[in-house]
Amino acid sequence: MKPDTKFLQRIKAIQESTNLELQKLSLPEEPRYLYDPVRYVLKGKGKRLRPILVHLTCDAFGVDEGDKMTTALAVELLHNFTLIHDDIMDQDDYRHGQKTVHKKWDESTAILSGDGVYIISQFLIAKVKTNPVEAINAFNKATLTVCEGQAYDKIYEENQQVTLDEYLLMVEKKTGVLLGVCAELGGILSNQTPEVRQRLKSYGINLGKAFQIQDDMLEIFSDPKTMGKSLGSDLTAGKQTALTILAREKYPEGWDILRNKLSEKTTEEAIPAFRKWLETHKIVSTVERLIATFVDAARKELNVVPKDKRYLLEHYTEMVLNRKK
Ligand code: IPE
Ligand code: IPE
Ligand code: MG
Ligand code: MG
Repeated sequence: MKPDTKFLQRIKAIQESTNLELQKLSLPEEPRYLYDPVRYVLKGKGKRLRPILVHLTCDAFGVDEGDKMTTALAVELLHNFTLIHDDIMDQDDYRHGQKTVHKKWDESTAILSGDGVYIISQFLIAKVKTNPVEAINAFNKATLTVCEGQAYDKIYEENQQVTLDEYLLMVEKKTGVLLGVCAELGGILSNQTPEVRQRLKSYGINLGKAFQIQDDMLEIFSDPKTMGKSLGSDLTAGKQTALTILAREKYPEGWDILRNKLSEKTTEEAIPAFRKWLETHKIVSTVERLIATFVDAARKELNVVPKDKRYLLEHYTEMVLNRKK
C-alpha cells in the first residue's frame, strides 16, 4: 500500500495543527526554572504519531472537534512527559534533534518539568465533554501501565535471563498501551460500545508493540542524525530487546563470545560488528517477522471501523511500519 496524496496531506495538517496548538498553550513566564524547559520540550520536533492516531480514530467515528483536539494535545503531552523522564532513566543526551532536558539543564529541572508537562496533560484530558470520567480513567490507567512498563525495562537491565514473552509484555506496557489509549479514546469520545472500544485499544496496543520492537531495531540499525535521538544506549546499558533476547536464546555461546569481544569498545566501534552478526545469524529477519505478526493483529482489529472510514487508519498502520525515524 503506497501512501497517497490525500493521506499525506491529512497527516501534515494534523502535525501542523498539533504544533500550532502546542505553541498556543498559555504558560506562565515564572518561575522560569519550571516553564522554560516545558516550553523547550513543546517546541521539540516529534512525529506526533499519538495525536495523529487520536485524530484518525475520532474522525472515523465522528467526534466533537474540541474534544478531539484537547485529547490529541493531552496524549502528546503525556508522551513528552514520559520521554523527559525516560531520558534521565536511560541517561540519553539527545531527543528530537536537541539536547535532552537533563543535559541542557540538570536532572532536578528535568524531573520537575516532566511533572509539569504531565499535569498540563491532565488538565487537557479533563476538559473533554463526552464521557469525561471514562476518558480520564482510560488516560490514567494507560499512564500507570506505562510506569509499570518502565519499571520492567529497568529491572530487566540487570537480568540476562529475560524471555521473549517477558520482553513483549514490557513493550506492551511501556509503549503499546499509550497508542492503545489513543485509539480507545476515539471510541470513548464517540460513545461506542465496550466491544468497539476494546478492539480499538487492541489495534493501538498491537501497533505500538510492533512500533517499539522496530524502535529497538532502529536503535542498532539507524543513526542518531536520522532518528534525532541518542542511540546505542540499549547495548551499553545491557537493555533486553527482541534482537538481544533471540540472539542469546538461539546462539548462547556465539552471542556471549561476540559480546565479550566487543565489551571494551565504544558503542560506535562495536555497532558494525553487532549489525553484521545479527544479520548473518538471521536474527534480523526473525525480528522482522515478529513485527509483522503484531502489525497483522492490529490490522484485523480495524474491521471494527466502518468500511468507508477505514482507509486513513490503514494508511497510518503502513506509515508506522515503514518509518525511518
Ligand atoms: C519514542 O516514540 C519513544 C518510544 C516509544 C519508542 P516516538 O518515536 O513516537 O517519539 P517522537 O516522534 O520522537 O516524539
Ligand atoms: C521509551 O522507550 C518508552 C517510554 C518513554 C515510555 P525507549 O527508552 O526504548 O525509547 P527511546 O529509544 O528512548 O526513544
Ligand atoms: Mg529511552
Ligand atoms: Mg527507556
